[in-house]
Order: sequence, then C-alpha cells, then structure tokens
Amino acid sequence: MDFSNCKILIVGDVMLDKYYFGKVERISPEAPVPIVNIVREESRLGGASNVANNISSLGGQAILCGAVGYDFFGKEIERMAHRKGIRTEFIKTEQPTITKARIIGGRQQIVRLDYEQHLEIPEKTKEEFKVQLEKLIHEIPTLVISDYGKGMVSEEFCTFLITVAKQHEVKVIVDPKGQNWAKYTGADLITPNVKELGDIIGHPVDNDDHAVETSAKEIIRQYGLEAILVTRSEKGMSLVNKQETIHIPTHSQEVFDVSGAGDTVVAALALALTAGNGIKESIRIANIAAGIVVQKIGTATLTAEELEKAM
Ligand SMILES: Nc1ncnc2c1ncn2[C@@H]1O[C@H](COP(=O)(O)OP(=O)(O)OP(=O)(O)O)[C@@H](O)[C@H]1O
Ligand SMILES: [Mg+2]
Repeated sequence: MDFSNCKILIVGDVMLDKYYFGKVERISPEAPVPIVNIVREESRLGGASNVANNISSLGGQAILCGAVGYDFFGKEIERMAHRKGIRTEFIKTEQPTITKARIIGGRQQIVRLDYEQHLEIPEKTKEEFKVQLEKLIHEIPTLVISDYGKGMVSEEFCTFLITVAKQHEVKVIVDPKGQNWAKYTGADLITPNVKELGDIIGHPVDNDDHAVETSAKEIIRQYGLEAILVTRSEKGMSLVNKQETIHIPTHSQEVFDVSGAGDTVVAALALALTAGNGIKESIRIANIAAGIVVQKIGTATLTAEELEKAM
C-alpha cells in the first residue's frame, strides 16, 4: 500500500463543512428561538476537497483544482488543504465558497446555514484555468472529477477535461451527479451511488443485484461508457462493464458514520489503479477503505497503514 508515487489531479466542487457546537440555556428575547452559546468549532474539507484529503491521508500526492470565493471560508479550505499536504490550484470567484455550517445545541442540530450560489466564472478566468489544467495534466497519470452538481463541472468544462486527459492517456474516474452524463463520455470509470444511478436512468433503482446490474448496463449502452462502479451503501458495491458484473459485499460490520464514504471510494480507487493494480483488485481495495471509514465517527479518511492492516 505504498502510494507515495501516485499523483492524482482532483477537479470538482470544493466545499467546506463547518460545525458549531454549543449549549442551549435560554430562549432569545429577540425572537422565539434558542440561543446557542458556542463552545467549539470544527471544519472539514468537503466535496472534491474531501477526495483530495483521502488521497493525501492514504499517502498519495493530491493536486486539487476548483473554485472558492474571496472569503474567509475559501482561505480556510486553502489553509487546511496545505496543512494536509494537498497542492491547490484554485480560481477565485465572486460567489461565496460553498459552505455548509451546522449549529448544534447539545446533541441536536438546530439549523444548517448554506452558503451557495450558482457559480459564474468569467470567460477569461475560465480560459486561463484551462491553460493551467492542460499543463497539470502532463504531470499526472490519473484525473478524478468530483462532481457535486454545484456548477464547477459544467458540460463544457467536463468535456474539455476528459478530452485533454484522453490526449495524454490519463485515466479518468468520475464521481457523478445530476441528469447529464453525456458530459462524462470518455471517462474510464464512473462511480454513482444507487440514488445517482436512479437519477440518470429516470426512476428510482432498487438496491438489489439484478436491478443495479440492469440499470448500469442500460446506462453503459446509452452513454457509450466503459464501466460503472455502483456504490450500494450497506450492500457494498457492484462493478458493471460490457463483459461482466461483479458484486462485492461491504467489508464493515459496525457502522457509525457513512458520510463521505463515497469520497473514500473514489480516492482509494484512483490510488489503487494508479499504483498498477487491476480493476478487480482496485475495487476490493476501495471497498475495504470505505468499510474502514464508515466505522469512524467524525473523520472520513484513513491511512495506508490502516488499509494495509485491514487487508
Ligand atoms: N451502511 C453501510 N454499511 C456498510 N458499508 C457501508 C455503509 N454505507 C456505506 N458503506 C461503504 O461505503 C461505500 C460507499 O458508500 P455509499 O454507497 O453510501 O456512497 P455515497 O452515497 O456516495 O456516500 P456519500 O455520498 O455519503 O459519501 C459502499 O460501497 C460501502 O462499501
Ligand atoms: Mg457520493
């Protein structure tokens, strides 16, 4: 599990998760709402930056590209990423850094504040960014596109990324979102969860082997894809390509916190493939990695040592 030579470029929706923990002792005199006296704050890298965080934590080299605002949260993401050894290439936008801030009083979440506006990147900035990305793609064997549907991975930009990646024989893994998968055409592997598979097929898909396989095959045909890895929560994951389907059960017996497991899957998959493992071995590694993070409360990352031990 030595991933130190694996350099991965992650492009996508960079986000910040904030948690404000406090005590509720009285009701506000201003309005009928509780007053939360904050005692502790926590920040976590979210979305594409959580994928980068997982890659870095597993010992790989992560280069993270995305958009942040000219605000405190953007600086915080940058600072946290650098502290974790992640290289960042961000564009700055007029829109706020996508942030989800939870206010937790006692044991209960009281409200969530979302900072989120549709991304509008000026043409000139976009063109400069593309030039920069073209240079970066020369340096790397694998590109991860982490689409959280927040606007960074537009059709035009995604098509550009995959086209350039293909020109340089860079492997492309996509964590998809939304109803336009034409933009992912040319990707080597797409990793939807069951809900995302349902979103693209146009109706909910049952989380059983047969339904997942049938839907994935239809999408492969429809979009001319190579392979789909469907992540299926407590049912593990299924790899579907033109030749075969492999279902693998989840690795974990105890589950505490499933959020972010999908990011761990793409991160571990990208590293395992880049390190030279075949697809079957790589999904086995990714599945074990996800099985470890769901057993943890809070952190959604793991180290190469933890992975090696579990294997
Ligand atoms: N409840 C669970 N029990 C056991 N394993 C789980 C559970 N939830 C997730 N996993 C593991 O994590 C992997 C990815 O989880 P999931 O399919 O929920 O992805 P996801 O919906 O993209 O996750 P998220 O968006 O929360 O990061 C699964 O394939 C499985 O290996
Ligand atoms: Mg996901």
